[in-house]
Amino acid sequence: MDENAKRTVLRQIPYGLYVIGVRDGNTHHAFTGSLFSQCSMKPPRVMLGVKQGTHSLEMMRSARVFSVNFLSKKDRKILEQFFKAVPAHGNRFGEITYSTQMTGAPILDAAVSYLECEVKDIFEGGDHSIVVGEVVSAKVVKDEPPLVMGDTPWHYGG
Ligand SMILES: Cc1cc2nc3c(=O)[nH]c(=O)nc-3n(C[C@H](O)[C@H](O)[C@H](O)COP(=O)(O)O)c2cc1C
Repeated sequence: MDENAKRTVLRQIPYGLYVIGVRDGNTHHAFTGSLFSQCSMKPPRVMLGVKQGTHSLEMMRSARVFSVNFLSKKDRKILEQFFKAVPAHGNRFGEITYSTQMTGAPILDAAVSYLECEVKDIFEGGDHSIVVGEVVSAKVVKDEPPLVMGDTPWHYGG
């Protein structure tokens, strides 16, 4: 296989960018995710690729819920914060405020819209697991288009 072509073409997939909120009991955590898509309409389900061995995947396995926060095009810094490694004993959220609603997964105050999901299944996809979630709550907070990968110089995968 042509490795360069593989990387280029896989990066041409039009990805979004989201802050995925997770919890374990009352401990809240979040990470920037992009491997996300709707996968069923009835019932309304989505799928998310989550890196094997991460704290986030373990939290999804145990609490069986997650949130998907869509952010404004001006909030790139928030997405940046959630893909950086957290210092030992550091606060993942820093100055970023959030609340919890139906599932207890964190919902950022800055989100322009969000989904709350219950985990229905987790499949092994390779170096990422595929988490299938059922959408149990959705809210449009502000009527503006969310930031997507194409608005940034970033890539994930390929
Ligand atoms: C642009 C971008 C997109 C990302 N998309 C994903 C993704 O879809 N799934 C994933 O598991 N990690 C993704 N990551 C990596 C996570 O944001 C990062 O590994 C995070 O710190 C994992 O947190 P944890 O180890 O504390 O659970 C992405 C990183 C970047 C820079």
